[in-house]
Amino acid sequence: MNFKEEVIALLQTRVDLPVAQLRDLIERPKNAKMGDYAFPTFVLAKQLHKSPVLIAKEIAPKLVNPVFANITAVGPYVNFAINHAVLTADTLKQVLQLQAHYGDQTLGHGNIPIDMSSPNIAKPMSMGHLRSTVIGNSLAKVLAKVGYHPIKINYLGDYGTQFGKLIAAYKHWGNEADVKQDPIMNLFHYYVKFHQEAEKHPELEDEGRLWFKKLEQGDAEATRLWTWFRAVSLEDFKRIYHELDVDFDSYNGEAFFNDKMASVITELKDKGLLHESQGAQVVEMGPDQNPALIVKSDGTSIYLTRDLAAAEWRMQHYDFVKMLYVVGNEQGEHFVQLKAVLKKMGYDWSDDIHHIPFGLITQGGKKLSTRKGNVVFLDQVLHDAVDLALNQIEHKNPDLAGKAQIAHDVGVGAVIFHDLKNDRLDNFDFDLKEVVRFEGDTGPYVQYTNARAQSVLRKAEQLTIASATDYQLTDEWSFQVAKDLADFPQVIARASEKFEPSIVAKFALNLAKKFNKYYANVKILTDDAELPARLALVKASSLVLTEALRLLGVKAPKEM
Ligand code: ARG
Repeated sequence: MNFKEEVIALLQTRVDLPVAQLRDLIERPKNAKMGDYAFPTFVLAKQLHKSPVLIAKEIAPKLVNPVFANITAVGPYVNFAINHAVLTADTLKQVLQLQAHYGDQTLGHGNIPIDMSSPNIAKPMSMGHLRSTVIGNSLAKVLAKVGYHPIKINYLGDYGTQFGKLIAAYKHWGNEADVKQDPIMNLFHYYVKFHQEAEKHPELEDEGRLWFKKLEQGDAEATRLWTWFRAVSLEDFKRIYHELDVDFDSYNGEAFFNDKMASVITELKDKGLLHESQGAQVVEMGPDQNPALIVKSDGTSIYLTRDLAAAEWRMQHYDFVKMLYVVGNEQGEHFVQLKAVLKKMGYDWSDDIHHIPFGLITQGGKKLSTRKGNVVFLDQVLHDAVDLALNQIEHKNPDLAGKAQIAHDVGVGAVIFHDLKNDRLDNFDFDLKEVVRFEGDTGPYVQYTNARAQSVLRKAEQLTIASATDYQLTDEWSFQVAKDLADFPQVIARASEKFEPSIVAKFALNLAKKFNKYYANVKILTDDAELPARLALVKASSLVLTEALRLLGVKAPKEM
């Protein structure tokens, strides 16, 4: 039941205003004690030649609908208070009927490519890439739930001048056996060493440039090494994706678009957009703004050019309705330029492109930087999280069957949840012990709450329950839970419109808190007439918690 629509229908019997206008006018009173909806009568003053206060006083007593416990005039407002028992019963019925499909809706159709994760070959995946992966993965699930078809694209950083440096470094200090044994770690060491050595021996930079040039020209040795580095790196990344249970529809990275840039450059030229500036080719961005660099002075192409080629290719192949780039905030200017250049090229679909930025993760207050070697190894983070989760399970529930799998779901889920619970633009500090706590605003807390609900349901199976026709509950705790459950569809809609998984995560935390209050204050498993209704509340809570976690990419074990 949509209570706002009920308010509108009821008002229409007494008030001469179009539905659309009523829909805009009706508000949520700031103070919940004043009711759940309010209709401000000011608009009617002219029409009726009466004061708004008087109008409210006259209308209120004439409005009657058992869905509302009371409808009262307060100053110039008519306030509507929902009948708690009706809301609870109605919501429980819906959730139990639709199960995991509760909250499904159609806000749109069509393809939405999501450019996400996109780590760089031969470097450890960073915390930033982890953020991109889990935010992108959650957005894909949220967008699918509201009707779109997401396409998860891993735009691997598998091309660029840094590969020239890496090849040069490998030639100096590398050997095959080490790379085979631990690819990312060793390739990364070569790369870090290259930067250290290049400070003392700048001629190394020239060597790097030369190798990149060779790579661009298809030199056999350069190509062999690059192909090998790419393959072993990807294998490593896939291990992490497997841990996170994230998959991709495409791994078309930067290299895939290499041979597609020339036509973009020609197109820019033909459209009269390309200008020479200090030996480079640029597109002017207007006063006070940096020009967009398309071809460097040494003739090599750059990041932006490849992204232009990729965007055009994706439009041709996916005919998208929107496209998202889940990439750190620090690349903001790049995406402003990408959109602006596409627009100048005459592509109106540039407006459907959204950069979905996110904040920085620090550790002990310090910025993490791959280049400086101040780096967190993600597989280690996940591994430690699972260990911590296992410790807590050993402590709380040592006889639990399938401990290893559950510890995995809890540990990995904790890291994902922690990443998604804050507004994505917030910066935050990463402290693993904090992340994996079973209490507080954590993933394990939500999972634990769900497991608690599941345990109640298991116990209930041993009771004989009279089947309910109507889920009447009258206590205040259950109403608080039901109100959250009723909000779930709108929560998903908001998360999809703002591209903000934290809306779902915060919802899950609140619902968990309210469920735990209910659990602490009400004796659920007492065999009386309300038992089926109470169990319905427990079941519905578990269904919605599980679905909210699923939308975040977090598992919901039935026992913990
Ligand atoms: N590989 C890049 C990085 O690690 C991210 C790529 C983002 N996607 C894009 N289409 N530019 O910074």
